[in-house]
Parts: sequence; structure tokens; C-alpha cells
Amino acid sequence: MRIVDLIEKKKHGEKHSKEEIQFLIDSLMNGTAADYQISAWLMAVYFNGLTEEETAILTECMIKSGEVVDFGELADSIIDKHSTGGVGDKVTITLIPLLAAAGVPVAKLSGRGLGHTGGTIDKLESIPGFNTNLTIDELIKQVKKINVAIGAQTQNLTPADGQLYAVRDVTSTVDSMPLIASSVVSKKIASGANNIVLDVKYGSGAFMKTAEDAVKLSKLMVKIGKLLNKSITAVITSMEEPLGRAVGNSVEIIESIEFLKGNITEGDIHDLTYSFATIALMQLGRYDNENDAMNYLKEIITSGKALEKFRELIKEQGGNPEIVDNYDLFEIPKYKIECKTNAAGYVQKIDAYKIAYACKLLGAGRETKKDPIDYSVGIFLNKKSGEGVNIGDVLYTIYSNDEDKAFVAQKYCDEAYMVSENKPNSSDMIYKIIRASEVEDV
Ligand code: URA
Repeated sequence: MRIVDLIEKKKHGEKHSKEEIQFLIDSLMNGTAADYQISAWLMAVYFNGLTEEETAILTECMIKSGEVVDFGELADSIIDKHSTGGVGDKVTITLIPLLAAAGVPVAKLSGRGLGHTGGTIDKLESIPGFNTNLTIDELIKQVKKINVAIGAQTQNLTPADGQLYAVRDVTSTVDSMPLIASSVVSKKIASGANNIVLDVKYGSGAFMKTAEDAVKLSKLMVKIGKLLNKSITAVITSMEEPLGRAVGNSVEIIESIEFLKGNITEGDIHDLTYSFATIALMQLGRYDNENDAMNYLKEIITSGKALEKFRELIKEQGGNPEIVDNYDLFEIPKYKIECKTNAAGYVQKIDAYKIAYACKLLGAGRETKKDPIDYSVGIFLNKKSGEGVNIGDVLYTIYSNDEDKAFVAQKYCDEAYMVSENKPNSSDMIYKIIRASEVEDV
């Protein structure tokens, strides 16, 4: 078998056999396939796609390329959650202490920022001392001890995905449905939980630009999960606008803490966190009624148990839990610039991609893999869509360590905001939920 023949086949939209996909992954792993051959194959897949069966085989080959976490008997009661990537998306950080405090074990391996999207691991590392480099044994032990652990994806799990991803990132082949599906599902299955909730995003800040494409991607992932004996629920959510008000690293942790303190009682972060937690409790069979699950979760927040669990998580992973009560323990940026509007009316929309771009310019994200991150910088959206504004009101606040960068970031934020006279209709954050029972088999 030769890689060039596989490229030729996919170039003409022909179907690969299991042996061919296995050969491709083996050649990637043992270095006999050159990066330019992998790139050419990826581009052929980008244009001609993979069948559901090919996608399932690719997923299995990627799982087998590395270790698989074994939680033993605990695997059936553990929840894992994954987002396909967004802007200001801190729902993992609000969700995992809430679920853990509600008695649901949560094991989470998360990624760093990717493209324009922020990474949960980078955000957590803004807490001084917080260690995300857990071994698989440490992760399992910690879940057994305090019901929750979160670590950075290790090289040992799905290394084939890591290698393919690195090539996709630089060959403009990230936003391909079968490639995203196999990448996400292989990682989730290798992470060991049997119950998985996926947040599949669509909109200007997401890899899938339309809700229809997000539905297709979701069905594909749920089907592959079913084939591999995992219960996956996909929740399709909007990423037209950043989630919550904070975009950056420490600013997002602070917003998450405010939610856990019970100080955020409405809006997208509030609604999505409760929705995901409710779906998880129902998927595990703890509740069969949404309202009962929701009331129970509200009690976990108001009693302070979720916040206490977050303190416990920080402490267990080497950070200072006092940060929860004293935000001055985070790195403080030099400049805080409040940007005002000269228009009156209502915020119609805030372009997620432009805000993400501005944030990256400030230093909150990386240009190349090795770049350091400035945890202290970011953007706070004082006004969100649907909110009224008067001339002179602060629309957003820039946190920066560099005046010039702040100036350029301001230009992108101004472009991101659209203010006009009429109040826009509000739209639901959740477009659709797709459960395993609703899709046919692959
Ligand atoms: N997230 C992933 O883990 N993989 C992708 O391909 C896209 C988003």
C-alpha cells in the first residue's frame, strides 16, 4: 500500500477500506508518511468528505493510537463534557464544580486555545499555581477523592489526533465535518467516561458557521459514539456572540466564580450551565424531570456547595483557593480602558470572531504553539445584545499591558458592536438537542 494511492483515491471521492485508514494512521505515527502527503490527503477529505463508516473507522484508529483511560466501575457514572470551541466559553469551568458538588463525578481533559478560540486549560492556569499536568493515574485518583479533576490533554491519549490536528491547523483543514467528528469523539472515548455531553457550537465564533451544519456534525458524533458503545448527547448552541461578558483568561475565571457564588442569575452563562448540568443529571438517570433537576442544582449554588467544590478543586491541583475571595491574587494588568458609545439604542449584535481577534492581539491567546500567554489581559462586555445604551455609556472594557495593542484592539471591538434604535428579538441559546435514541446506527 502507498500513501500516494490513498490520496489519489480520495481525490476522486472514492471510499477507503478499514485497512487503508489503518495504514494511513500507522504511517502518520511511524513517520513514514510525509507531512505534505498527509496535507494532501486532508485537503482531499476536506473537499470530498468521508462516509460515516470511514469516519467511524478513523475514530477507532485514532483511539487505538494511544492509551485509553480506564475508570473501571466508575466509568458508567462519570460525566465528560466537550465544547467544539468558542469565544468566552467558560461553561466547563462553571459546570464541573456544580456537577461534582451535586454528586456527579466529572473527569475532564481539556485543550489549550486553538485558532481564535480560547482554551479551558489556559484559563485555569491563570490561577497562580494551578497544575493542569495530571498523569492519567493522578486524574483517576483525584476523581475518586473529590469527585472532580481537570487536566491538559496528554500526548498519551489519541496521539494520532494530536499529529493530524497540528497539520490541519496549518493547512486550513480544521473545519471539515468528518475530521472534527473523529477528532472530538476519539478524544472523548479515550478519556474514559461512558457518558458524554457535547456542546456543538455554530455562528461567527465557531468552526461550524450555520446551525444546519452543526446539526449534521452532531448527528455524526452521536452516531459514532453509539457505534462505540458510548452515550453521547449533543447540544447545539449559538456562538454568534461571546458567551458571558468576559473574554480572556483570568477575567473568565472571575466571571465563573461570580456564577458559582450565585451572583449571575440570568443570561447565557447561567442558562447554558444549568441546561448542561440538567442534561447530565437526566442522562445519568438521576432525574427524569427537568424542573426537579434544575431546582436541585439551584440549591447546590445557593447553599455555596458548588463554590466550595471549586475551592477544593483549586487546592487539590496546587492553586491558592483564597483567590475565590480575593481577585487581587490574579495578575493585574497595567491598563483598564473603558470604551464608551456615541450611539443610543440597543446592542443588536457583538461579533464573536472580532472580539476573539482583539483579545488575541492583547496577548490572551497564542500566535504560535510556543508563544507565552498574558493571563491578565482581556475584554469585558459591559453591554450585551438586547441591552439598552445611551450616549456616553461604557460598552466594553479593555484590560491590557500595552497601550498600542489596546488601541488596535479597540478598533476591532468597535467593529464588533452593532448598536441601533430597535430592541432586537432575543433568541434561544440552545438550538437543538440530539440524543443517541434519536439517530440511526452507522
Ligand atoms: N475540537 C477538537 O477537539 N477537534 C476538532 O477538530 C475541532 C474542535
